[in-house]
Amino acid sequence: MTSPQQINNLQAAFQDALNMSGSPGVVSTSPTTSFMNTLPPRTSVAKQAKALKPFSTGDIKILLLENVNQTAIDIFDKQGYQVEFHKSSLGPEELIEKIRDVHAIGIRSKTKLTPEILKHAKNLVCIGCFCIGTNQVDLDYAAKMGVSVFNSPFSNSRSVAELVIGEIISLARQLGDRSIEMHTGTWNKVSHHCWEVRGKTLGIIGYGHIGSQLSVLAEAFGMHVLYYDVVTIMALGTAKQVATLDELLNNSDFVSLHVPATDETKNMISAPQLAAMRNGAYLINASRGTVVDIPSLIQAMKAGKIAGAALDVFPHEPAKNGSGAFGNQLSPWISDLVSLPNIILTPHIGGSTEEAQSAIGVEVATSLSKYINDGTSVGSVNFPEVSLRSLDLDQENTVRVLYIHQNVPGVLKTVNNILSDHNIEKQFSDSSGDIAYLMADISNVNYSDIKDIYDKLNATEYKISIRLLY
Ligand SMILES: NC(=O)c1ccc[n+]([C@@H]2O[C@H](COP(=O)([O-])OP(=O)(O)OC[C@H]3O[C@@H](n4cnc5c(N)ncnc54)[C@H](O)[C@@H]3O)[C@@H](O)[C@H]2O)c1
Repeated sequence: MTSPQQINNLQAAFQDALNMSGSPGVVSTSPTTSFMNTLPPRTSVAKQAKALKPFSTGDIKILLLENVNQTAIDIFDKQGYQVEFHKSSLGPEELIEKIRDVHAIGIRSKTKLTPEILKHAKNLVCIGCFCIGTNQVDLDYAAKMGVSVFNSPFSNSRSVAELVIGEIISLARQLGDRSIEMHTGTWNKVSHHCWEVRGKTLGIIGYGHIGSQLSVLAEAFGMHVLYYDVVTIMALGTAKQVATLDELLNNSDFVSLHVPATDETKNMISAPQLAAMRNGAYLINASRGTVVDIPSLIQAMKAGKIAGAALDVFPHEPAKNGSGAFGNQLSPWISDLVSLPNIILTPHIGGSTEEAQSAIGVEVATSLSKYINDGTSVGSVNFPEVSLRSLDLDQENTVRVLYIHQNVPGVLKTVNNILSDHNIEKQFSDSSGDIAYLMADISNVNYSDIKDIYDKLNATEYKISIRLLY
């Protein structure tokens, strides 16, 4: 039996070895007990999970830019990580200087992580995009460096669904027009063609995260809900899935789009679909700008076929805020669009709420912490998604091997040969394009073996990066 003093000595010796190698990002620390308490266990087993903890998590350095939400800072602080926070983005030179030795960087949309920047990151393990999009990061380059990228695609679903509910009522009551009139001194008290939403039918196209939230909210207002989706999805409440898009369009008073931008959804609502809608129906698009053919919508509204529309997204959107940014220089039909009555135009704000920002902070910081602490890459956008169940508290002398490698034949044979002196308790490997990721828990490992295992894995031909957690 190893005494606590012996363990301390072994840990100190191993720490020395690491310091000599000068690469704290390669063999890294694992979770603190406090972290395990803040996260749901990966299995439903009631047993307490073992916190993998060879060193202080205080070695982990996180650089947060662009005023990432406080919820993220709180999660990283709880881990004991060293957090450097900046309200804005950094210029290229300062970014290169700062990224050099951090283990994780958190950004929003302004910071561009190009190969020219990323190549300077010597210890980087993961990147957090505290937003929906990830095209500000060169994902392939990051993957080839063994750097996993996370984002938060669904934290703002509720915000979008609530905006759409607001728009349904606003369109039915011509609220936008009445408000503009009052701002210009006109009193125009009308009830003609103004409706309650109770008893009307809402047709939802795309019954995913947002569409299904919207379904629940709409029913609470007494609406009937139909939905159309390429996948068969269980209805919430008394909503009904319909078999074809036309069936939905023929039978809905309000149609709201919640599909992704794909080749199939490009101009999904164009002249024939608008013609298939009920006379005097309303159209709402808070999904992606390519989904509605806006010139056809303008025609249908001018003809009185469509009584109102709300658009939050456009095929071309301005890069930044400012007066005059939304004009014909983006698309030639914009002046026509803005002159229509009963049309609500918003600058892609569907998901822009304080609550969504705070939820994004929690989701991305949690993903980064789980990846740093136990290697779980679930939710990564550029990496194979791999996870192993936690170790039990009573599992001593177990090491978790995290081995990122090029996706070529024969690598697993080489790695398993290296690990074969120990009992491989569990392992999971997956690949995505050129990159593969192996997670393995091996038992019967003495601390003195760890450096040996690391050196052997490090010498393998197709290795990209290695971390050992214990
Ligand atoms: N306006 C905003 O600020 C804002 C914010 C968040 C998301 N969005 C956008 O909203 C859309 C929906 O987001 P989500 O989180 O609900 O996505 P999701 O992936 O959860 O749901 C999309 C649904 O659309 C279905 N679908 C895909 N192709 C389809 C097709 N051709 N026909 C019918 N159904 C189809 C899918 O099966 C899925 O159920 C996305 O385009 C997203 O980019 C906009």
